[in-house]
Amino acid sequence: MTTETPKPVQETTVEVCSNTDPLHLIDVDHVRIYVGNAKQAAFFYAYAFGFQVTQFDDLTTGKRDEASYLLTQGNIRILITTGLTKNHPAQRHINLFGDGVKDIAFTVFDAEKAYNRAIDNGAESAYEPFTVGDDNGKVTRAGIKTYGEVIHSFVSRTGTFSLPELKQGGRIFPGFETMEHPLNQFNKDNPCGLKFLDHCVGNVELDGMDKTVNWYEKVLEFSMFKHFDDADISTEYSALMSKVMSSGGGLIKFPINEPAEGKRKSQIQEYLDWHNDTPGVQHLAFRTDDALESIAELRKRGVSFLRLPDTYYELLWDRIGDIEEEKKLVQELGILVDCDDQGYLLQLFTHPVQDRPTLFFEIICRRGSQSFGKGNFKALFEALELEQDRRGNL
Ligand code: FE2
Repeated sequence: MTTETPKPVQETTVEVCSNTDPLHLIDVDHVRIYVGNAKQAAFFYAYAFGFQVTQFDDLTTGKRDEASYLLTQGNIRILITTGLTKNHPAQRHINLFGDGVKDIAFTVFDAEKAYNRAIDNGAESAYEPFTVGDDNGKVTRAGIKTYGEVIHSFVSRTGTFSLPELKQGGRIFPGFETMEHPLNQFNKDNPCGLKFLDHCVGNVELDGMDKTVNWYEKVLEFSMFKHFDDADISTEYSALMSKVMSSGGGLIKFPINEPAEGKRKSQIQEYLDWHNDTPGVQHLAFRTDDALESIAELRKRGVSFLRLPDTYYELLWDRIGDIEEEKKLVQELGILVDCDDQGYLLQLFTHPVQDRPTLFFEIICRRGSQSFGKGNFKALFEALELEQDRRGNL
């Protein structure tokens, strides 16, 4: 097994791409999570995962229909949004699905051109292009619908709202104001080390995977990266099938899962049962370049992770060989390891971050491997089934 030196963790290839491709994705602009109470959720994500709460937009800034907080860490930007009026779409989302991901937004050169191209490719509109801003800078946004009620926004930025400005603390959208959150200093002193969004997994209905995969190929011009079937991902009781789609520049990957037949209920089916039988985002994977530091800090903060039986490690090291991390520490922290012909990876999954068994997070550290931990699937799903059983959903 080779263990190539990991590339510096940096996000995008903006410097090598041309702006002639309207669907060239420069960056993940932000992920928007709809929640029941944005002020409280922002505090939870800030404390549990070490995000800086840097900007907000609510009644006090003149917003009348919603309240949002911008959370940042590395190159991750998460907008936590709640509705303030009964007809706000966040209220419907909470009603049907609970807290969850609404929008995975991409920075592009020209949001209107990207939107038009996606529509020409067969996308359904979520909202039409609009521009806000002033003489110093503008933001144009437009959105298309993907699986379930999730959308992809295209965002293009100029002047004071440009992406480099945003990364330096510039405002995400007009109306937002910067803030000093009481946890920001603590988080600076105790970093969790999360760098960027590595991948975003969608759960779709039985027989929905190929349709969704085709959608990413046709509409966003992604290509297939990997394919796992139920022979790869099954336990005695349940199974799933998964295909991984990758954006053109390799900015981000979207694995798509569907339930497969098993003796008992698939974890994907459990998700769907608690998500109003509607596809949605199952997990977001955040990249770190030091899994041990990140997991130790997150555990200290009370984040609860899936626990695998100690027997997992009995067979692991024969399969993986040497790694640069201390194996004893890896085991103590309960971190999973997998390898492929390009290297290895360390990963760990949180429990769901809300009361429903829906959205959770993954922490992933790649040492060459570009895979998703296929070798861990079986052990992992057996651990997941134990949790499912505890919830009375197996
Ligand atoms: Fe993952």
